Amino acid sequence: MKGLKTILAATICVAAVVGLSGCSSSNGGKRIVRISHAQSETHPEHLGLLKFKEYVEENLGDKYEVQIFPNEILGAAQKAIELTQTGAIDFVVAGTANLETFADVYEIFSMPYLFTSEEAYHEVMNDTDYMNTVYESTDEAGFRVLTWYNAGTRNFYATKPINTPDDLKGLKMRVQQSPASVNMAKAFGAAASPMSFGEVYTAIQQGVIDGAENNELALTNNKHGEVAKYYSYNKHQMVPDMLIANLKFLNGLSDEEREVFEEAARLSTEVELDNWDEQVEEAKKIAQEDMGVEFIDVDVELFKEKVAEVQQDMLDENPNIQETYDHIQEVNAKYTTEEAE
Ligand code: GCU
Repeated sequence: MKGLKTILAATICVAAVVGLSGCSSSNGGKRIVRISHAQSETHPEHLGLLKFKEYVEENLGDKYEVQIFPNEILGAAQKAIELTQTGAIDFVVAGTANLETFADVYEIFSMPYLFTSEEAYHEVMNDTDYMNTVYESTDEAGFRVLTWYNAGTRNFYATKPINTPDDLKGLKMRVQQSPASVNMAKAFGAAASPMSFGEVYTAIQQGVIDGAENNELALTNNKHGEVAKYYSYNKHQMVPDMLIANLKFLNGLSDEEREVFEEAARLSTEVELDNWDEQVEEAKKIAQEDMGVEFIDVDVELFKEKVAEVQQDMLDENPNIQETYDHIQEVNAKYTTEEAE
């Protein structure tokens, strides 16, 4: 599989580099629009992207054909972002952790316990006018985010039960490949092991790591529940995925075409969000009943206390996240009930 991925990625790259994009990117006169993502074909993101394809082809079908490449076929997130950056492919879906090295404002989403409710998270992310100010931050790198996808709440899971933060001590936990993710795991007392998403299953299976942290779909869609049997609801992050576009591609569209692509992006988010909760419920059921995964409710406050300093440390180290942090706190406050205080 790895070999196939490499060959495919290389073929596309070479074609783009030597300027053969005409032969690799058009089909019967239509411009082929390639989208890469890391999930399976039943995942809400894939369903959202099918809507994107449908809308673009319904409206601009004489000119564009959208092709979706799931399962990291074109490479893991960081590689696929580079391909999008150079224009070898046109779109990629990736988590914000992968964007931190391009624009450090994205570190904000790696901050533990940043959002205090799902409502606040969704309100911030659905506020397109506000988010566009964040999305523009990677223009210099040659790409721009068009929309977001819900990737739920991230929790720790491992081959051993994690009931309190003390249980994380010394455990080797996979985190996403970003400095902020590594710092967060360390603050929890774990040994952080950054690697790409596609490597996690084998790493747990072979005992290279003890566990990872992610939403529930990782247990089923990515089969991590086969190798890690304990999933603890410590709820440390809500990290969105982003639909990222090559900027030259976007800027090369006419106003009408751009509107179609933007509407397609908006609709894809709608479909993705509509499918999310149901798929999480289903994943929990399958993980529990078919895979024997135990879901553990923990005292979240203990986990919060453990990383209490991290928010301020991150703000001190990176002033570029302050404005977004303040904005999110305002939205958080709207949903904080008196009882919860
Ligand atoms: C989630 C998220 C992906 C991300 C992955 C990871 O599945 O949707 O975009 O790559 O987590 O932890 O790497």
